[in-house]
Amino acid sequence: MRLDVVTIFPEYLEPLNVSLVGKARVNGLLDVRVHDLRQWTHDRHNTVDDSPYGGGPGMVMKPDPWGEALDAVRADGDPGIAPVLVVPTPSGRPFTQELAVELSGRPWLVFAPARYEGIDRRVIDAYAEQWEVHEVSIGDYVLAGGEAAVLVITEAVARLLPGVLGNAESHRDDSFAPGAMADLLEGPVYTKPPVWRDRDIPEVLVSGHHGRIARWRRDQAFRRTDAHRPDLIERCDPAALDKYDRALLAELGWEQRPDGRFGRAARAVEE
Ligand SMILES: C[S@@+](CC[C@H](N)C(=O)[O-])C[C@H]1O[C@@H](n2cnc3c(N)ncnc32)[C@H](O)[C@@H]1O
Repeated sequence: MRLDVVTIFPEYLEPLNVSLVGKARVNGLLDVRVHDLRQWTHDRHNTVDDSPYGGGPGMVMKPDPWGEALDAVRADGDPGIAPVLVVPTPSGRPFTQELAVELSGRPWLVFAPARYEGIDRRVIDAYAEQWEVHEVSIGDYVLAGGEAAVLVITEAVARLLPGVLGNAESHRDDSFAPGAMADLLEGPVYTKPPVWRDRDIPEVLVSGHHGRIARWRRDQAFRRTDAHRPDLIERCDPAALDKYDRALLAELGWEQRPDGRFGRAARAVEE
């Protein structure tokens, strides 16, 4: 996969040289290119921003450098491969594991992290006519710039690429993983020693009984999701639940509604 990042702070992307993403680059699984937006400015001060039309506080990133930058990145790539533009913005669609999986299937991602109040809208509108464009938010808060969002999205996408994780199976049981974990959070995990500060590990984990261990893990996933993200249980597909899942949800105070979805039982809501 090829990744291009256009930014006014190329040094902010240094973490792309370490850990999993760094190793994927060294192994040739990821081709990451970071570009300084200011190289596509033409004035003495390398200006990338200007005051907003309509007034108001803050500055807006000018369309000209962005247009030149994206055209140059495009021209430097294989004409047969379509780039996908990823624009981090708090006003975008929430970044989810589902979107990470979708993006991991694309051969070429181009990131446009902004600063100030964002990029002149015409840039996004113009490229949306030629490229697949995703405006993506990494959460309901406002960062000073999009570079941290690029790091987040890149790491989530890169670990899904074949060959990047040592064990290809290891993201199958992650929280949000498509399939059985789609609307579940992963439960607690343990390693050696078996006793630490007088605390044991759950016995089932050393039972050697794969079926019981799988069931215990799934129960723990439901308990954690119930505690931290009940919205996930509300939206989960009831058809994906077995009788043990349903019994546990009932124990946790959930009931199936006439539309088939799960909601907090009236009693549980009152408590
Ligand atoms: C100060 S923010 C601009 C916020 C903008 N005025 C708004 O309220 O939507 C500057 C840049 O940081 C990035 N950014 C901030 N919060 C983000 C978030 N939650 N997700 C993704 N990118 C974010 C975007 O690139 C954004 O253009």
